[in-house]
Amino acid sequence: MENIILTGDRPTGRLHVGHYVGSLKRRVELQNSGEFDQIFIMIADAQAMTDNADNPEKVRQNIMEVALDYLSCGLDPEKSTLFIQSMVPELTELTFYYSNLVTVSRLQRNPTVKTEIKMRNFETSIPVGFFTYPISQAADITAFKATTVPVGEDQLPMLEQCKEIVHKFNSVYGETLVDPKILLPDNKACLRLPGIDGKAKMSKSLGNCIYLSDTEQEVKKKVMSMFTDPTHLRVEDPGHVEGNTVFTYLDAFSKPEHFAEFWPEYANLDELKTHYERGGLGDVKVKKFLLKVLQAELAPIRERRKYWENNIPAVYEILRKGSEVAQAKAAQTLAEVKAAMKINYFDNDEWIKEQVAKFSK
Ligand code: TRP
Repeated sequence: MENIILTGDRPTGRLHVGHYVGSLKRRVELQNSGEFDQIFIMIADAQAMTDNADNPEKVRQNIMEVALDYLSCGLDPEKSTLFIQSMVPELTELTFYYSNLVTVSRLQRNPTVKTEIKMRNFETSIPVGFFTYPISQAADITAFKATTVPVGEDQLPMLEQCKEIVHKFNSVYGETLVDPKILLPDNKACLRLPGIDGKAKMSKSLGNCIYLSDTEQEVKKKVMSMFTDPTHLRVEDPGHVEGNTVFTYLDAFSKPEHFAEFWPEYANLDELKTHYERGGLGDVKVKKFLLKVLQAELAPIRERRKYWENNIPAVYEILRKGSEVAQAKAAQTLAEVKAAMKINYFDNDEWIKEQVAKFSK
C-alpha cells in the first residue's frame, strides 16, 4: 500500500504560529522525509463556506493568503500537491453517499462540532452544511486514500468520525476505503499553542495571534506584550512557568542551539526555567530571548513569502495544476465507491444483463 498524506486548512484568515507548530512544520518535515508516495495539501474553501455562507468573499481572498503561507513554510509544489477543495466536486458526491452512514445523534456528539457551535453562537440556527462537515471531511480524507493525516489536536474527533465511516462503508459495501491514521505533534506545547494573551486558543477575533506573515516589528510588539505570570511582580519574586505563555512558546519553539547562539548563560530550557522559578530573572529578558528564537524561525518564512508574493501568477498555476491532479485522484476513488455500491450502471454490462434476464419471460 502507498503512503499518502492528506491534510488542509480552512481559508478564513492568514495562518499563524499555532498552525505552524501544530501542523505546518510537521508537514514540511514529512514532505522532505521521502517516506510518502503522495502528499495532498488542501485549501478547504468549501468547508470554510459552511460557516461563512454570508461572506464568500472572505474565503475567496484568503485562498491566496493560505497558499502563500504554505509555500513560505517550505511546502514544495514539486513534492506536494496543493489544491482547492471546491475544484474537486467528487468530494461533494462522496459526502452525499457517506451521509447515509452517519446518524444525527452521532454528529451531535462530535466534540469539535459541539465547541464550534458554541464558539459561533449558532445555538438553534446551525446550518445543516456546518453540522455535517465532519462527513465532508471524511470524504476529503478517503477520496485521496490517505494513510496519514497530520493535523492539530482539535481535529481528533474528525478523524474518529472518518474512521467510523470507513468501517461502516467497508462492512456494508465491501473493502473499498482506506483507514487513515492521525498524526499529532509530538511536543505537548505544540498541540495547542495559546494566544499571546494566554487565552487557550489563538483566534483572529480575539486579536491574539502571531501570523506567519507578520513583520519583524509586529512580532516584536506582540512578544513584548505577551501574558506571563501575574504573580511575578518584582524580578526577585519566584516565577511560575506553568501557564506562562512565554514559556509555553519557548517549549514549542526553542532548541538547545538557540541557547548556544543567543543566551549561552543557560545550557537549555530547563536551566532557564529553574532560574525563573527560583526568582531573580525578569520577564523582559525572557521575552527578548523568545523574540530572537521566533525571529530565527520566522525569518526564512518571511523571505520565501516575499519571493512568492512577487510571483502570484506562478502560485495560481501551482493551485490550478494541483487541483487537476487532485480531481483525477478523487474521481478514481469515487468510481471505486460507486462500483462497490453497484451504482455504476453504465461502467459495464452487468446491470443491463441482469435487467434483461429479469424482465424476459
Ligand atoms: N478542518 C480543517 C481545519 O479546520 C480543514 C480540513 C478540511 C481538513 N478537510 C480536512 C484537515 C481533511 C485534515 C483533513 O483547518
